[in-house]
Amino acid sequence: MDKLARNKEDIEETNIQYEYINKLKNIIKSKSDSLNRPLTYNVTTFGCQMNARDSEKLVGILEEIGYIPSKDENADFVIYNTCTVRENANNKVYGRLGYLHSLKKKNPDMIIALCGCMMQEEVVINKLKESYRFVNLIFGTHNIFKFPELLYNTFKSDDMIIDIWEDTNRIVEKLPVSRKYSFKSGVNIMFGCNNFCSYCIVPYVRGRERSRKPEEIIDEIKHLVDDGVKEVMLLGQNVNSYGKGLEDNINFAKLLQKVDDIKGLERIRFMTSHPKDLSDELIEVMANSKNVCNHLHLPLQSGSSRILAKMNRHYDKETYLNLVKKIRNKMPDIALTTDIIVGFPGETEEDFLETMDVVRQVEFDSAFTFIYSKRTGTPAAAMDNQIPEDIIKERFNRLLEEVQQISRRKAKNYTGSLQSVLVENVNSQDATLVSGRMSNNSIVHFPGDDNLIGKIVNVKLSECKGFYYIGELHE
Ligand code: 5AD
Ligand code: SF4
Repeated sequence: MDKLARNKEDIEETNIQYEYINKLKNIIKSKSDSLNRPLTYNVTTFGCQMNARDSEKLVGILEEIGYIPSKDENADFVIYNTCTVRENANNKVYGRLGYLHSLKKKNPDMIIALCGCMMQEEVVINKLKESYRFVNLIFGTHNIFKFPELLYNTFKSDDMIIDIWEDTNRIVEKLPVSRKYSFKSGVNIMFGCNNFCSYCIVPYVRGRERSRKPEEIIDEIKHLVDDGVKEVMLLGQNVNSYGKGLEDNINFAKLLQKVDDIKGLERIRFMTSHPKDLSDELIEVMANSKNVCNHLHLPLQSGSSRILAKMNRHYDKETYLNLVKKIRNKMPDIALTTDIIVGFPGETEEDFLETMDVVRQVEFDSAFTFIYSKRTGTPAAAMDNQIPEDIIKERFNRLLEEVQQISRRKAKNYTGSLQSVLVENVNSQDATLVSGRMSNNSIVHFPGDDNLIGKIVNVKLSECKGFYYIGELHE
């Protein structure tokens, strides 16, 4: 299918879904009239920022058709937007489905829906079909834009509705979205992943890489800014390969420059960068930009070149360290964060010590550490030499200790400094405090009230509490 034809089909799809939205409005209205109360919804998100953004799209549609939010899962429509990156994410969902079943027994009209990455796995669908018949609607990651149509079908049928696509080349724009925060927003720049790291299930559940057109992205961000958004997070599984396959002469560095030029936008973040193709051009744009935050998330995964090769990461220890040097050379005080997996098949004590060595050399501001999780269907799951649990745990604890010690030490260095902070919420434990994020992504709590929410203010960091700060507003 050529590009123009594809776009035409996608534009028509938006109209088709709006027709379903209108039909749903009538259904919800008549149901709530007969119950003499509004219908309620609850959306639970598991996993990453990408899923969080997808959930905002679900909420946008639910609110558009007349549902109102419920504070818990005791609601008329409940949906779990699932993650499957590690096995324990799946187990959490099965556990909570049992609870939903008990709620549904009390409210038989309740609709239970499941979507997201876990639904792209055949074993999961088979299990749900067999043992979780009370679920009404199941769809995957590729057809989330069809949510209005699928929900309409759910109302019209007593059967379990299942619609899972293996892959897609479609990008359907301009459906309703309801942001969780008025002042910040995720913005998808691309979908899917072509990297096939050998441990990772994402390419199988999120499909092949496809980029949104730059004008669609810029247009969306301009609208967000007009609507009060100060900070955007550009989202993609590997933002550094943005633009491949588009006709436009564009790559991630050029896109970032365009976003940096948008008037009124104050902060830009992005997630996630693969070290293998982080370009010099990107470093240059970041270093010279006005609004790109002083933070880079650069997943290491392992410090051992031997394991990195088995992981299919396309870089080795030395290349990673050189890249960090190059970045710090241009941006000496940039906060670097990372992801690390412990216990990949065949990981020896020597390999693990290589990881510890990189952690010590780079001194990450913070690191997410994960125990390797075997994902059926990935090449690593079939590798010999899976590491025993006790050895992994012991390595994991050593790594965590090191990572935390470094984080604390680095965080302390900022004590006493003045930082620009985007205020996000009133502190949940102490209502006299508000909480906000610094450009480097650290959190600071300081005295203030809800008038400050969504504002960028200067805060003096008076005390470092390990991984966060207590501060005071600087007029
Ligand atoms: N086991 C453990 N961690 C994983 N990640 C991805 N797949 C796995 C797996 N099979 C981690 C990686 C990635 C982060 C989002 O999740 O570190 O960067
Ligand atoms: Fe996000 Fe990956 Fe989890 Fe899907 S599987 S929610 S893309 S982390």
